[in-house]
Formats: sequence, C-alpha cells, structure tokens
Amino acid sequence: MLLPTRLRKNNAIRALVRETHLSMNDVVYPIFIVDGKGIKREIPSMKGQYHYSVDMLEEAVADFSAKGIGYLLLFGVPDQKDAEATPAFAEEGLVQQATRAIKKADPNMYVITDVCLCEYKSDGHCCFFNEDGAINRERSLETLCRVAVSHAEAGADMVAPSDMMDERIGQIREALDLAGYENIPIMAYSAKYASAFYGPFRDAANSAPAFGDRKAYQMDPANAEEALKEIALDIQENADIVMVKPAMPYLDILAKGKEISYLPMAAYQVSGEYAMLQNAVDQGLLDEKALFEALLSIKRAGADIILTYFAPVLQDLIKEYQA
Ligand code: PBG
Repeated sequence: MLLPTRLRKNNAIRALVRETHLSMNDVVYPIFIVDGKGIKREIPSMKGQYHYSVDMLEEAVADFSAKGIGYLLLFGVPDQKDAEATPAFAEEGLVQQATRAIKKADPNMYVITDVCLCEYKSDGHCCFFNEDGAINRERSLETLCRVAVSHAEAGADMVAPSDMMDERIGQIREALDLAGYENIPIMAYSAKYASAFYGPFRDAANSAPAFGDRKAYQMDPANAEEALKEIALDIQENADIVMVKPAMPYLDILAKGKEISYLPMAAYQVSGEYAMLQNAVDQGLLDEKALFEALLSIKRAGADIILTYFAPVLQDLIKEYQA
C-alpha cells in the first residue's frame, strides 16, 4: 500500500522530499526614500516599514545586509511633485541620490528602481493625459524612458517599470541601449492589476490619484487570459523578468504565466497583503508561521522572485520553519 504519511514521519524525511524552498536569494525588499535629513520614520499604514532619508541609507543598508537582504527595490516619495513629473528623472531626484548612496555604502547591494510617474506627478497618475482625458502615450513613454535612463546613470543594477503603458518595455529597452546601458535588465510589471490591495502603499508613497482611478491602464482583476497577453507582449519587447502583482490573490495568474514564460517570473506581495498579515500577527490572530506559508505559496505557484516587505524577517523565518 502506498501510505503518503511514510514521508512525513520526521524532520529528516520531510526535508528530503520538500519540493519548494525559500532562500534570501529569492527576495527583493522594497523601500521608500523621502526628502530631509536624519529620517527613519515608521509608515503608519505599513507598521514595521519605514521612510528613509538618503543620509540614513548607509546605516540601513548595513542592517539589511545583516538580515540577509541582497536586493532592494527603491521608491522615491518627494515632498514636491509637479505636472511634468520632473522629480522622477532629475539627477538629484530621490531614487537617483539613494542609488548612488547605496552603491557607495555597499557595492554588492543589488539596486532595482521602480520606474513610474505617480509618486512624482501632481495628479498622482502613472501617465500623462490629453485634454480629452485619453492617455497621452507618446508623452508618457518619453518621460518613462527618461526616468529609466536617469536611474541607470545613477548606477541602478536593474529597472522595473510599473506604469502599465502599452509598449513601454520595448521603448525603455531601446532608450537604455541607446544610452549605453544594454546590460541593465528590465523587470516588467507585466500583469499588474487595478487592485485595492495597493491602499497602504498609496499612503506610504503619497501616490493616490487626485482624480479617477487607474482602471484605464492597470488590469481588471476579473481577467486571467489578458494577463497572458500582457506577459507575452513584454517577452516580445525583450523584458528580462516578468512580474505578476499582487501575489497571493493572483496565484492562478502566476501559475498560468509560468507555463507560457521561459523568463524568470517575479511576484509582488503588495502593501495590502503585508498589512493584512502583519496586523493579524500583531493582534495575535495568526502565528508568524503564516508569513512563511504565504511566501511559500507564492513560490510554489511559480514565482522565482518575490518582492516582499517581509524580507527583513525572512532569514529568521527560514531558520525556524524550513528545518
Ligand atoms: C506605482 C506602484 C504602486 C505599487 C508599486 N508601484 C502603486 C500603484 O500602482 O498604485 C504598489 C506596491 C504595493 O502596494 O506594495 N505605480
């Protein structure tokens, strides 16, 4: 008789037949950079996460490193935004300054930059609009390309466009190549949904749209086939890594996407997923083990890379629960 429990008897046998493992090489830690000096301030909507000013990054990076983190994703949250999204591509922009500071403090820390306009543009949208309210794709793409090149110039190791404009991956690839950055990979937020799970991030990044919503460019949560179209297009446009976002409510998309893609697949466990789990742990409703299980489920569904705010505690979770 085949008794499945034979392979569950003790730690040794469970470890021998375990199919999915988490490692610190799987995770990218998203962090938020703000103007000012001496700032390490907890983000109210994301307890346990912080806003950092550039001067605090040297110390922060040493701390991240000690926690086993080797990959960062940078978001800038400037005090001043404008109609042109100038702070997104300025040489002295927050992400540009932060990239230089981090690479100086620790050249081995791998820096990925989020390429978008919503944190830098007065109306909080990821693109420009024409007078009739339609997306001005040409202008949006032109600016996104400038942002990506400015990040590469500052020393970013990888760029990650999160705006969801059509054809941006191809255009950004061309712009990077022309500027001499053909070795800088692009991680495309390929299947990015118009999700209510971004709520805490929009507080953290002060990027909630001033009018309307993002449904005209982010995907409808009801659609799965369409995600495959988005992933296929980004592959055609020479993305190096494709991403599904959010993660846990979209594990089906991850699994389907993995089947059609031969690229490394990333999943973004977003702010709402983080807040939900962290609050439940803080209130004693869930054991910390649930965090590990959540991350494991994302990897098991097909993610090779997980962007997660839990990165700082993962090393300990792995020691505790992967034994
Ligand atoms: C910006 C961007 C967002 C997130 C990552 N990049 C917010 C949005 O699209 O509104 C969300 C990340 C998170 O919720 O953790 N385009």
